[in-house]
Amino acid sequence: MKRRNFLKGAGALIAGGVLPVSLVEVAFGKSKQENFTFAYISDSHIQQIKGSDFVRSFDRGLKRAVAECNMMDPKPDFVIYGGDLAQIGNKAELDHGLELMSACNHKVKYVMGEHDYYLDLGKYWESQLGPQWYSFDHKGVHFVVLNSILVDDKWTNKWSSGEERMGVMAGLDNPLGSPFMVGAEQRAWLKKDLAKVNKNTPLVVLSHSPLQKIYKGWNFWTDDAEQIQAILKPFKKVNVFYGHVHQIQYNQIGNISFHSVMATAWPWPYPSTYSQAKSHLPKLTVEMNRADPFFERDATGWQFIDVWSGNTSMHFQLPENNTRSVSYNKRRKRPEDKQYQGKGKRIPPQKHY
Ligand SMILES: [Fe+2]
Ligand SMILES: [Fe+2]
Repeated sequence: MKRRNFLKGAGALIAGGVLPVSLVEVAFGKSKQENFTFAYISDSHIQQIKGSDFVRSFDRGLKRAVAECNMMDPKPDFVIYGGDLAQIGNKAELDHGLELMSACNHKVKYVMGEHDYYLDLGKYWESQLGPQWYSFDHKGVHFVVLNSILVDDKWTNKWSSGEERMGVMAGLDNPLGSPFMVGAEQRAWLKKDLAKVNKNTPLVVLSHSPLQKIYKGWNFWTDDAEQIQAILKPFKKVNVFYGHVHQIQYNQIGNISFHSVMATAWPWPYPSTYSQAKSHLPKLTVEMNRADPFFERDATGWQFIDVWSGNTSMHFQLPENNTRSVSYNKRRKRPEDKQYQGKGKRIPPQKHY
């Protein structure tokens, strides 16, 4: 696929409207490896009110994302669903979410979110979708899917019911929760899985929570992040994509580029809000710029992600807001917002309606 054609397709989509889905292009420049794209949808939080009544705005976010996905030109090779398909994770919500996803014309790979998990520890999800962590290869790229929202067994087993446990874990500002982690079992699996992969092979790691420590109070956090990063360190090009935070974030730690993807359900506030508390923000080089936390479509949207020879370039299309591009700066070896980033530059408030 020629880049020009790809961008032509992107232009058509921009003209068609702004919808909460991401398209990822994986390209290898002059090498013989085949370029391809995949799409990314995340955090729909399908929520049952009663019986067959579900929160309509959340349904709508996911329906629009699926519709957009089906219209994409070029067609994505597959779709990643980034977790939190459901809100409390009962059968009705997961069934309804999967029914909406079944309208997608492409093969979908799923990541576990905490809202899918803590009611029955992922049992129903697993019965419908398969293992909670796995890897696969696609056209020269090694993909790893992790369940990053586990906590220690002591916390998991201390509740009198799954409902009670989910009720606690589903909160955002949540002192009764416990920090997420990938855990020893999966880390051992990851080491073994990566042992067979050439260190020059680009890696794409998909998790629900960020595999970096951003803000513990809201579980924008993975407790064993450093251990995961150490396992990924020998690889030349590593890209981690995560959902959960419902906002744009990007960061570079060593060889790893981190990018969040947007939610289809709602946005969370940005660091200017939560930095009032003790924060463990990494070097997030541009603060989020959402102007109106009560504008439900702000900080939802979709993005193209180009992976050129293993480095990523994100193109965020924001509803009724300025488009942003975050590209890998080879000299500084980190992702940067092209338009705004630099010495003394700050992103001004964006317009909203
Ligand atoms: Fe979420
Ligand atoms: Fe989440």
